[in-house]
Amino acid sequence: MSNYHIKHLEEYFQVYRKSVRNPESFWEEVAEEHFLWRKRWDNALSWDFSKPEVKWFEGAKLNITENCIDRHLNTRGDKTAIIFEPNDPNEAAQHITYKQLHDRVCRFANVLKEQGIQKGDRVCIYLPMIPELAISVLACARIGAIHSVVFAGFSSTALSTRINDSDCKMVITSDGSYRGSKTIDLKGIVDEALEDCPSIQSVLVVKRINSDIQMKEGRDHWLQPLLDEAYHDCEPEIMDSEDPLFILYTSGSTGKPKGMVHSSGGYMVYTAYTFKNVFQYRENDVYWCTADIGWITGHSYIVYGPLANGATTVMFEGVPSYPDFGRFWEIVDKHQVNQFYTAPTAIRALAKEGVDYVEKYDLSSLKVLGTVGEPINEEAWHWYDDNVGKKKSPIVDTWWQTETGGIMISPIPFATPTKPTYATLPFIGIQPALMDENGKEIKGNQVDGRLCIKFPWPSMARTIWGDHQRYKDTYFSAFENMYFTGDGALRDEVGYYRITGRVDDVIIVSGHNLGTAPIEDAINEHPAVAESAIVGFPHDIKGNALYGYVILKDTGEYRRHDNLRKEINQLITEQIGPIAKLDKIQFTQGLPKTRSGKIMRRILRKIASKDTSNLGDTSTLLNPEVVQEIIDNAL
Ligand code: PRX
Repeated sequence: MSNYHIKHLEEYFQVYRKSVRNPESFWEEVAEEHFLWRKRWDNALSWDFSKPEVKWFEGAKLNITENCIDRHLNTRGDKTAIIFEPNDPNEAAQHITYKQLHDRVCRFANVLKEQGIQKGDRVCIYLPMIPELAISVLACARIGAIHSVVFAGFSSTALSTRINDSDCKMVITSDGSYRGSKTIDLKGIVDEALEDCPSIQSVLVVKRINSDIQMKEGRDHWLQPLLDEAYHDCEPEIMDSEDPLFILYTSGSTGKPKGMVHSSGGYMVYTAYTFKNVFQYRENDVYWCTADIGWITGHSYIVYGPLANGATTVMFEGVPSYPDFGRFWEIVDKHQVNQFYTAPTAIRALAKEGVDYVEKYDLSSLKVLGTVGEPINEEAWHWYDDNVGKKKSPIVDTWWQTETGGIMISPIPFATPTKPTYATLPFIGIQPALMDENGKEIKGNQVDGRLCIKFPWPSMARTIWGDHQRYKDTYFSAFENMYFTGDGALRDEVGYYRITGRVDDVIIVSGHNLGTAPIEDAINEHPAVAESAIVGFPHDIKGNALYGYVILKDTGEYRRHDNLRKEINQLITEQIGPIAKLDKIQFTQGLPKTRSGKIMRRILRKIASKDTSNLGDTSTLLNPEVVQEIIDNAL
């Protein structure tokens, strides 16, 4: 039996039991046998959820890029590490071998050093899905700089907030990006953001769309000439297992985004191990995850997890609808993709366009299909199973979070029988618990509650950058001695988990986490707005869409509501990004509030979902009369 590669259900149960009975020795075995350490750890795990403090492989020394690149050079030097598929199908795909990746990462790392970047410095990466994105991530890791990738769909305000929160020294960006038939002026967005970012000393610019951009003397540098001059080898910086590898921001229900900090050693071990098992990756398979590296899915399962296994990983620059809705399937056919990992929202959008697009292509290479980011509804699950997997490729519905670093609940394909809408069983080493509202664990099956994790796992985030107290308050205070996920879940009669959705004020729209408070703050900046409240409502494709209730100031001036709606969405686009735009905006005289002044979102959620049959007792509200007014004018 191999601890590293699980192939049967029985093996899963055996290894799971082992991983839970003695987590330290289990993970030590995995770490020891499958990775390259410059020095062994002194202590496998120390932890205290009350502080909270978690350390894995303390005292060990490593560099993750040595594990992802160098150690493959002898055996897989000419194997393709990254297949880059451009936005435009007429542009040639690029195959980057492990040797070439080594060369490009080393040269990039040397450029970073020449620009004064040192171990521990923060580097913001704001790039489209082009090879330089993966390469710059790895180049940072090579020299021990902490990368902070910001999804290139975020606005300049969102970008500057993230740069300033972690005092980044440098931004890596491009002259623009392709997105379907559009181009986006990324450098212009960076320039705007940097008006307000005193910590930035330099900007490296990748040429992608050949646009005519402004370069600021002394600050901005084209990347290519620097790479041309750079030395081809770069000794990896030797990192402590607990040294931060990266920061990645995720929305909170309140306040500014949280910079989740991930470690080097534990993160590497867990992402590599989950990748191998959840996707059953075999040598020479071609694996494709459609996420953007701007999200955790891309960090863990486009870059680090696959490369640590010496895999071939596809990076796609474009969108599923360009030049038509067959683009994903065309790419699967073209590169003979074996494992395909995407989001339910993409599946729903493609299902709507009909099966002709799917049937045009040869999908027989597919072995495993994955989903992530939000609950997958039964209809989408079956469409995926029937039309893409032809009922022969198991679907792995993987539940996890930015904070968890790696997949936490998921079937193991060909081992765990799947069940539509269920993420099924906890992954090796993961000890979930369902909790009731009084903080008691709910044991047994056929129950539901708040999903917590009882025991540390190697890739959990260690803190929130600059705000450890917030880390404690958000994740370790709701339930004693537990990590609280913010999700609700149910456990069925055989112990399978189904994630039911967020139990806080985070709304997942098209697989993106959005906090209500930052959106409300953006709306409230409009001079005509007095107050606002955002809730989610079910949407066929996005899973959830946003519904805003807005109270206007009584300025005596009449404004057309349609214009106001446009202006509000424009403000949201500027402050956060187009992903946070509202689908519906209802103007109202008041918002239902408790006597202590708290907005009753539960009522607003029901009205937005057109489910007003049981609103509960509204008589105790401060202003019960507004409820009827809101129902009467609901959109
Ligand atoms: O609510 C859960 C949902 O996405 C949240 C985490 O979002 P984020 O940090 O952006 O990471 C997404 C990619 C890992 C979770 O708290 N979620 C994620 N995967 C699933 C899911 N909900 C249901 N089923 C899933 N498979």
